[in-house]
Amino acid sequence: MKIEEEFQIPCPKCGGNQYRIPENADDDSLIECDKCGFTASLQDFREHGLELAEKTDFNPYRTKEPRFIDIPTEEKNRKIQANPACGHLICRCEMVTEEEIRQAVRAGATTLDEIKFRTRAGMGRCQGGFCTSRAIQIMAEERGVAPQKITLKGGQSYILARETKDSLAG
Ligand code: FES
Repeated sequence: MKIEEEFQIPCPKCGGNQYRIPENADDDSLIECDKCGFTASLQDFREHGLELAEKTDFNPYRTKEPRFIDIPTEEKNRKIQANPACGHLICRCEMVTEEEIRQAVRAGATTLDEIKFRTRAGMGRCQGGFCTSRAIQIMAEERGVAPQKITLKGGQSYILARETKDSLAG
C-alpha cells in the first residue's frame, strides 16, 4: 500500500498525532494510530469534528540507516556505550539488534512482516524460530499493547492466542 500523505490529527484515545492516509482513501477507509493502534474511518473522524490538516513538513523520502552489523567496530562500541539496546542481539541469524527493532516500530512498522522487511529479523537460517517471540515482545512494549495484539500482516493474522498457562488450564 503506497502512503500518499501524512496528516497530523490527535488520536482520541492516546493523544498521538500522526496518522497515515493511504492513497485512494475514501470516507470508509480505516486509518490507524501509529502509537496505540486506535482505528476509525475517515468519516468517523469528520463526524466527530476532527479536522484533517496536511502535515506541512512531511517528507516522502526516507534515508536508510546502515545496519548495525555493517558499521565500523569503533562506532558500534560508541553506540552500545550510549544505548545498551544497540548491543542486544535479538535475531542471531541476521544479527539484528533490539534497538533496530525498536527503531523500526517507531518509524511505523506495525506488523511482524514489516519488522522483517525493514530489519531482516526472522529472515535467517532458523526462519524466526529464535527471534520471533522476542521481536513480538519488543513490538508490544513499543506500541503499549498486549503481545496477543501483534499480527503477522495485519487484519486477523494474530500470532498468539493466549498465554501458555491459560491454555493448560483449559
Ligand atoms: S534468529 Fe532470527 S531468523 Fe534466526
